[in-house]
Amino acid sequence: MANYFEWNDSYSVGVKAFDEDHKIIMHLLNELLKGHDSKADMQAQGEILIELIKYTRYHFRHEEELMIQSEYPDYPAHREHHDLLFDKVLKFTNDYLNRAMDFMAITTFLMEWWLGHIQEEDKQYKGWFNGRGIH
Ligand SMILES: [Fe+2]
Repeated sequence: MANYFEWNDSYSVGVKAFDEDHKIIMHLLNELLKGHDSKADMQAQGEILIELIKYTRYHFRHEEELMIQSEYPDYPAHREHHDLLFDKVLKFTNDYLNRAMDFMAITTFLMEWWLGHIQEEDKQYKGWFNGRGIH
């Protein structure tokens, strides 16, 4: 039985809209784990991974737009983290669907990456946005 994510205030990045996005991402990661626990077929898991790709793209653009608008100084580095992860999500999904990669290896990577990114990089923008009246 896998460990599911449960969002709590310690994950908050100080901007409500992004917290809501992150909750949806955690929900999708949980759906992947649930599928694994219930031995869902590859197609069903593939569909969730594709949903995760689409949502990840939407969410990264969402954060980046606000960073650009407010001239966030760490935007280039943050953008680089996003691009790196996005490439990996695409590659892993492809490898998984081609049976070249183990499901748990992908999910473990995605979970660790997301938690790390939210708690390290994303939290760094809190003060910047909050200082400009964005909560
Ligand atoms: Fe981010």
